[in-house]
Amino acid sequence: MTENRVIRLKARPVELPGPEHFEITAEPRPKPGPGEALIQIEAAALSPWQGQRLKDFRNYTKPFEIGEVIDGDTLGRVMQSNAPELPVGTMIAGRLGWREWAVTTPGTVEIVQEGQSAETTLVTLSSPGLTAYAGLNAAKRGMPGETLVVTSAAGGVGSHVVQLGLMAGMRVVGLAGGEAKRRIVEEKLGAHVAIDYRAADLEQQFAKAFPNGFDLFYDTVGGALADQIFEHTAKFATIVLVGRTAANNSSNPGADMANVRVPWGQNANIIGFNRYDRPLEWAEARTRMERLAADGKINSLVSWAEGFEAAPQALQDMLAGRNVGKTLVRFHS
Ligand SMILES: NC(=O)c1ccc[n+]([C@@H]2O[C@H](COP(=O)([O-])OP(=O)(O)OC[C@H]3O[C@@H](n4cnc5c(N)ncnc54)[C@H](OP(=O)(O)O)[C@@H]3O)[C@@H](O)[C@H]2O)c1
Repeated sequence: MTENRVIRLKARPVELPGPEHFEITAEPRPKPGPGEALIQIEAAALSPWQGQRLKDFRNYTKPFEIGEVIDGDTLGRVMQSNAPELPVGTMIAGRLGWREWAVTTPGTVEIVQEGQSAETTLVTLSSPGLTAYAGLNAAKRGMPGETLVVTSAAGGVGSHVVQLGLMAGMRVVGLAGGEAKRRIVEEKLGAHVAIDYRAADLEQQFAKAFPNGFDLFYDTVGGALADQIFEHTAKFATIVLVGRTAANNSSNPGADMANVRVPWGQNANIIGFNRYDRPLEWAEARTRMERLAADGKINSLVSWAEGFEAAPQALQDMLAGRNVGKTLVRFHS
């Protein structure tokens, strides 16, 4: 068996992507050259940015080309090596994409401590957990007793924000889609208040959850929900804009948030957060989150999809909210 299956973009989705937008092809397994190692990829983490890059839409990332292998965070093991820094058997994490086998070089991947779980590696100590910490750090806000509102609170980033907010002594209000996720945010993560944002009485629930408005809003979705939350901005509140899942999933440019009237009137501090321009916050986040994970003080919520070919459907399920926490796909065990 010297085959290597890879998943390429076949056609651009207009709204949510599905298996029909991807093509699985079998290719020869790559051979490591001098200084390179051959990795068997065991698992991949799915992220909303992958859904965004399927579309012809630019922000700080560029769209995938038709025919391009889908990029993404992965965990794998060195199976053959011409690089002394990556001996056979080493576990690594890196952006190797949707392929079963890949060739890599030291310095472009991280060595993972033997025994560290896939969940800790791909979630808490990767983009979701580090974005949660670094985004809160960028807000420079979080006094005990202040009200923190978090969207996608049962998601990869949001679930860590809830836990970090509680550690800081904040009063945490987490929003999630549906009663099952709402209960996870309340019971598993321990948010003071958990709200199903699809509920008919959302406005009444907001008025009860933060009668004096929010002090810090960590937003991962944007769109109509963010607009509605903005109506509850307290004086001198802080808003960190981390993600735009609602707009990314939509073909309608008007799906982005539009309501700056109340934040402006309340002298809110609106902060854009893009991890690639935040190297200092990122480095600190890694150090602190490693400590919290080692001490067992922070946990990741994860949904597993099984099998390499499951990745396209799992991406759609994650973008549509039919998952809990971060979605990981097991390519091989
Ligand atoms: N700026 C950065 O540097 C940076 C870094 C990492 C991630 N991000 C962004 O952070 C966000 C969260 O990432 P993640 O990996 O943790 O994903 P995630 O929150 O685990 O998954 C996306 C979730 O968005 C929610 N959602 C989808 N459509 C929605 C809508 N119309 N209104 C409200 N909620 C909706 C769904 O949860 P419900 O079922 O609860 O609706 C879905 O599960 C993404 O937008 C991502 O791009 C930004």
